[in-house]
Parts: sequence; C-alpha cells; structure tokens
Amino acid sequence: MSEPKKLFIKTYGCQMNVYDSERMAEALGGKGYVQTDAADNADMILLNTCHIREKAAEKVYHELGRMKHLKVANPDLKFGVAGCVAQAEGAEIIRRQPMVDLVVGPQSYHRLPAMDDAVQSGVRAVDTDFPDDDKFETLKSRSKAKRGPTAFLTVQEGCDKFCAFCVVPYTRGAEVSRPADRVVREAQELVAAGVREITLLGQNVNAYHGHEGGLAGLIWALDKVDGLERIRFTTSHPNDMDDALIEAHGTCEKLMPYLHLPVQSGSDRILKAMNRKHTAESYLKVIERIREARPDILLSGDFIVGFPGETDADFEDTLALIREVRYGQAYSFKYSTRPGTPAAEKPQLPEDVMNVRLQQLQGLLTQQQRAIQESMVGREVQVLFEKSGRTDGQMIGKSGYLHAVYADAPTDVLGQVKRVRITHSSTNSLAGELCKD
Ligand code: SAH
Ligand code: SF4
Ligand code: F3S
Repeated sequence: MSEPKKLFIKTYGCQMNVYDSERMAEALGGKGYVQTDAADNADMILLNTCHIREKAAEKVYHELGRMKHLKVANPDLKFGVAGCVAQAEGAEIIRRQPMVDLVVGPQSYHRLPAMDDAVQSGVRAVDTDFPDDDKFETLKSRSKAKRGPTAFLTVQEGCDKFCAFCVVPYTRGAEVSRPADRVVREAQELVAAGVREITLLGQNVNAYHGHEGGLAGLIWALDKVDGLERIRFTTSHPNDMDDALIEAHGTCEKLMPYLHLPVQSGSDRILKAMNRKHTAESYLKVIERIREARPDILLSGDFIVGFPGETDADFEDTLALIREVRYGQAYSFKYSTRPGTPAAEKPQLPEDVMNVRLQQLQGLLTQQQRAIQESMVGREVQVLFEKSGRTDGQMIGKSGYLHAVYADAPTDVLGQVKRVRITHSSTNSLAGELCKD
C-alpha cells in the first residue's frame, strides 16, 4: 500500500474556521490524506484564513512567502488557501502567488476532493461560489476516531445584518441554518467519539431557524442526547435573543451559564452609524432579562473603539455601559477599515486616539474580569476535565463559566465533570481542589 498523503492545515480567525478545518481534513481523508502537525513533511498545505481586520490578505501572502522553501524542497507539494480571504480575493491569490494550486471559499469545502483531483493532474482550482447544494449535506457523517471531550458544531452560517464595519456578510454570504435533525445526528456522532460538551456555532447563532422553536428549540432537542453533558453557543446578536432562549438559560441544565453577547459600542449615535439596529438601552434590557433568568451567568462581549466619528463622549458611553454590565470576559479591537464596507468611506480617527481609548477600555475590562474570577474563590464549581497539566498529577478543565481550572486529580477524571472547590485565582485561570463525592 502506498504511504498516506500528509495534510497540514493552519487555521486563523474564529471558531467557525476551527470547525471548518476539521471538516476539510475529513473531506480530504476520503482521498487518503492524514493530518500532520509538521508543515515540512506535508504533501498539501492549507491556510484557512480570516479577513476580519486590516492587512488580512497581506498576512496570507507573507505566510505563503515564508513557506516557499518547502515547495523548493518538495516540488510536488500543493498549496491551498481556504476561508474568508479566499472568498474575498478569489483567483487574485493565484495571480499574485503562482505557488498556490487551490483557492476554496467557505461554502465550497465539500468540493475539495474533486478539486484535489484537478490539482493532482496539474490544473489549478478556484471555487468561491455560494452553491445551492449544502456543503454539510455532502460532508455527511463525522469521523469515528476518538476525540477530546469538547467540540464545536456549526449550525448556522452567514450574516444578513450588515454592520457598517464588517466583512462577514460578504465573505460568508446570507444566513443559512442547518436542519435540526442533522445537527442532532452530528451531536450523537460526536458524543459516540467521546465528546461531552458541544459549542454550537454561527456568525449569528441565535438567528438559527433550522428548528421551529429557533435556537432554543435546537438546544432542547440536544438536551435529550444521552451522554452530552454541556451545551454552549456563540456568537449571538442582541436583537435575536428571543424569550425562549432567555428562558432556556434558566431552565435547561445542560446549557452553561455563559453568554457572549457583543455590543460593540455604548453610544446610540455610534450604534446607529454602525447599523447595529439596537440601542445601549435595549442591549442593557436584554442583559437584565437574562440575569433574571440566570442570575449567575457570566457575560462576555466584543467592543470596537475608534469607529469613524466616535467622540470622547461616545467613548465615555461605552465605558459607562461596561461599568453597568460587569463583564467576565471580553474581546476589544481598534476599528479596522475594511474595503467594500460602508464605514470605509468615512473619515478615520487618528491611530493615537484609538490606542489611548483601547488601552483605557481594556484596563476597565481586565479589572472586571479579575474581580469576577476572584469572586469564584471559595466556591464549588463543576469542571469538565480536558487535558493534563504540565506538572505531575495536575489536570486542566473548564468550569461552566468557561474559566480554566487547574486541580490535582487522577487521569481518569479526563472527559468527566467533577466538583471542584476554587482555592486560588491567577491572571488567566483558577486553581482548586477536587471535592469528595
Ligand atoms: N457575528 C458576531 C461577530 C463577528 S466578528 C457579532 O455580530 O458580534 C467578531 C468581532 O470582530 C466583532 O464582534 C467585532 O467586534 C470585531 N470586528 C468586526 N469587524 C471589525 C472591524 N472592521 N474592525 C475592528 N473590529 C471588527
Ligand atoms: Fe459582522 Fe454585524 Fe454580522 Fe456580526 S452581526 S457578523 S458584526 S455584520
Ligand atoms: Fe474571520 Fe471569516 Fe471568522 S473573516 S472571524 S474567519 S467568519
């Protein structure tokens, strides 16, 4: 038998890309490829790219340039570019970097095996269609290989919201939801392979409509999957937090007390200019209702500083909103001009203004994050253990609130949920002791 071909995938960007990379590896697995961690012995290198912020395409060309020596050493090596830069740049990538054999957009991964045939016969392949055939329907069942206790599962793709700063509606296309029965089947396959916690993914996951009860309906359907212990979902839009989903946070035990709900800004003027279609007040109202349903929920958010036209007063409104919410986790970015988006036409703020604001915002968010982490000390939390730590006997897992937790424990806790009493909080993690059952 011939040696299996080796596939090296480098993944950038959001969790949806992480999921897509797994599915691409599985699709090419059918063609005899096995994944490798080392680029220098690969037969194919795929870069699964992100286009969200400035210079995204430049970074991809730079990375390809850095890998050129691999092609020199092995002329049969094939290069592919996938993901959102592939979608945005298309055939331009092959023009600018002749070393690239294959360009595939996020909606066309199921065509990879056929594209590989073309590439192996010396033809370059570009596919950035938004095809009618559902890629997930073609890429049916998941690999049966044993895997770790947590997994991502994409249930919704694309975005119809068109925030004025964002490329996602252009790179991922219109919102599409996968039918609930297929999602449930995939969850069962993941559980059979050892998964205990599933994070449902979508660019706007709570706009999911593949179940008549929306995302809440899907969550309740997954609640019935034996062996699945935890459910999470990300990323949500404030306008799609419907009553049933809010209620599920109070009543569904498998749904973890963590919610990532990006707001971007606390200023109504900026929110309007961003085309977010919500106000600071309506966002705070949603948060209030979620906290009524699940008082201990840990909230996470995304923020952009320096959107065109943002004044000191607008920025103060963002800080005020943050003070009111108290976030346990957050991601914040300087506004980045994306060609082709409406905000790119507007005059940009000076870089130094953005730097100062970002620093101030991150200072406040870090303070809140630490305070919430420290408030866990002395409490008992449920931890799903995922891997062993660097020191002997140490295991690492995640609490329901998504805090990393270290504890001394036997290896058989891996893949299990155990009670841990938190004894210590450090910069980015907690430490604790296993409770006696
Ligand atoms: N669908 C999600 C997140 C999409 S992208 C949502 O609606 O919130 C993830 C985050 O990247 C966004 O929440 C936003 O904070 C940030 N982002 C997107 N475009 C950006 C840009 N042009 N400049 C800076 N940050 C951006
Ligand atoms: Fe981008 Fe807005 Fe859609 Fe999120 S909701 S993906 S920020 S356009
Ligand atoms: Fe990036 Fe595309 Fe995700 S632009 S953030 S990889 S949807």
